[in-house]
Amino acid sequence: MERKHYEQEINMTETLMNRINELLSHYPEDKKKSALLPVLHEVQDAHDNWMSIELMDKVAEILGILPIEVYEVATFYTMYNLKPIGKYMFEFCQTSCCCLRGTEDLMDYTCEKLGVGIGETTADGLFEVRGVECLGACGYAPMLQLGDFYKEHLTKEKIDQLIADCRDNKIILHDK
Ligand code: FES
Repeated sequence: MERKHYEQEINMTETLMNRINELLSHYPEDKKKSALLPVLHEVQDAHDNWMSIELMDKVAEILGILPIEVYEVATFYTMYNLKPIGKYMFEFCQTSCCCLRGTEDLMDYTCEKLGVGIGETTADGLFEVRGVECLGACGYAPMLQLGDFYKEHLTKEKIDQLIADCRDNKIILHDK
């Protein structure tokens, strides 16, 4: 299947490169590939939460590995985004505990409220809704991940508040 190509401005800032080099310092010189997952997180966070082919190629160049080795990882894990996404990505856990506690209803409610289907971005580029596998917070079901943070024991009222807080720019997405 042919993938649509998305343009992205690549900006390997000094801050980003320092962070990558700090991560690489934890691994032997000939085992840089072992740092691939955390490096991809850093690079993605610094590029509006998604990575183009060219950006993944840049990561391959920095780690001294083949581009295909980066693609294999980036296409396997759902936390890596390979196209532009909404600024606020609501990742609802869709595994058993959360489903039993009403995830599907909450996803429908959120999509309806935002006027999008699952996997679509709102026209203002702010929101997107996605279903993911168990996020390891089953005791707090139903829950979702937003950036680096979990939102737990969700209700429709909490979804309303979350959306309002995102619109008011009150939500912090990353913990660093
Ligand atoms: S089932 Fe939802 S966090 Fe585990």
